[in-house]
Amino acid sequence: MQFDVLTLFPEIFPGYLSQSLLHKAILKGLVSVRLHNLRDWAEGKHQQVDDRPYGGGPGMILMVEPVVRAVEAVMALSPPTGPAPTGPDSSLAAGTQPAQVILLTPSGERLNQRLVEELAVVPRMLLLCGRYEGFDQRVIDLLQPREISIGDYVLNGGEVAAMVLIDSLVRMVPGVLGDEQSSIEDSFSRGNRLLEYPQYSRPREFRGLGVPEVLLGGNHKEIAQWRQQQSLQKTRERRRDLLDTD
Ligand code: 6GU
Repeated sequence: MQFDVLTLFPEIFPGYLSQSLLHKAILKGLVSVRLHNLRDWAEGKHQQVDDRPYGGGPGMILMVEPVVRAVEAVMALSPPTGPAPTGPDSSLAAGTQPAQVILLTPSGERLNQRLVEELAVVPRMLLLCGRYEGFDQRVIDLLQPREISIGDYVLNGGEVAAMVLIDSLVRMVPGVLGDEQSSIEDSFSRGNRLLEYPQYSRPREFRGLGVPEVLLGGNHKEIAQWRQQQSLQKTRERRRDLLDTD
């Protein structure tokens, strides 16, 4: 799975990309992320990328010219190549695919696990991160990106949202999660609309709080039943909406 990220703040990403699961996925060649600075496609002495909106109003708008030029240039790049892939790699087929353009914006379609699963089959994506008051509408009219929001609140820019999207997608790439973990059993995954049951590890007692007896008994059927019941109860209390069929 290959990502090109277009942003005014590429420096935001490397710390996140160099940690844990995602770092390993990149080293294995299962995932690649290339960062591009939108300002590299700006013109003039000041490399201007934003301007005031026609008609007035607060804030600045990302200009159509540098954004469209940047997207076209990045689309035309050969697909990113990671270190030599090892093991099964469904993203090998990505070489010839055009990138799906995704624009991160609070007015986009709201991200949920269903959308994550839908996008997880797309081998190459170009993520456009907005700042300021958004993009000139002609960016959207010309590029017809898929517009995605990560929730009903306002962020200062699309960068954190892009990281959320990358994080949620990378978990779906075969080989990224170890055998012991599985995205299939995650809350919200297809066929599972329940919240996670409570988990315990050592010690058996901490500050007077013990571990539910059933988990210590080794009866796997009873344990599975208890967990199912805990999941159901928690979901009923916190997220009734998940139990409604849709
Ligand atoms: Cl994708 N961008 C911004 N700026 N705010 C958001 C968002 C995106 N998703 C939720 N809030």
